[in-house]
Amino acid sequence: MALGVGARIAVLGLAQAFIGVWVYLAAHGSADAARAPALDAAARRGQAVWRENGCASCHALFGLGGHMGPDLTNVTRRRGPDYIAAALTHGLGRMPPRGLAPEDINAVNAYLAHIDSLATYPLPSLTQDSFGQFGAGQPPEPAAGPAAGPPSATAHP
Ligand code: HEC
Repeated sequence: MALGVGARIAVLGLAQAFIGVWVYLAAHGSADAARAPALDAAARRGQAVWRENGCASCHALFGLGGHMGPDLTNVTRRRGPDYIAAALTHGLGRMPPRGLAPEDINAVNAYLAHIDSLATYPLPSLTQDSFGQFGAGQPPEPAAGPAAGPPSATAHP
């Protein structure tokens, strides 16, 4: 039995409502758990200082950004906030002093500590066994020949 026009519209409307609910839940429900924690006020200010001072032209976070200086994703863990403050105040090697106010340096430190808390970059190398399971260990020998894979993310100029 063919459905009348009214019934078809009702079925289509119901289907759209289901899709709407599903899309809403996908965006606001389960995804919330996986979302990174929000920046607090100090870290937000630090993010603005980071952007306004062009740090990203020379430094990467999570591998994205400039590569004149080192990737700073985990610099808080590696160096600590006092070292970072000193590097910004007095300059370090090829990085001249950045001329930031002490509050701005504290804010950048809060931002970098937040970034550090999100992830480790580069990822520790993982190996894959013959069943497709990942585990940390010795990476496989590189195949003979010219294709040796992507360049190391830890190498800096
Ligand atoms: C003109 C390029 C340039 C800019 C812009 C720049 N840096 Fe740097 N930075 C460098 C270089 C190069 C180094 C490495 C210094 C060395 O060891 O010779 C460095 C080192 C650092 C270090 C020490 C990292 C370590 O592991 O020792 C920190 C922290 C840092 N920069 C933070 C910042 C922040 C924050 C900004 C923005 C306010 C910034 N830099 C802007 C080039 C730059």
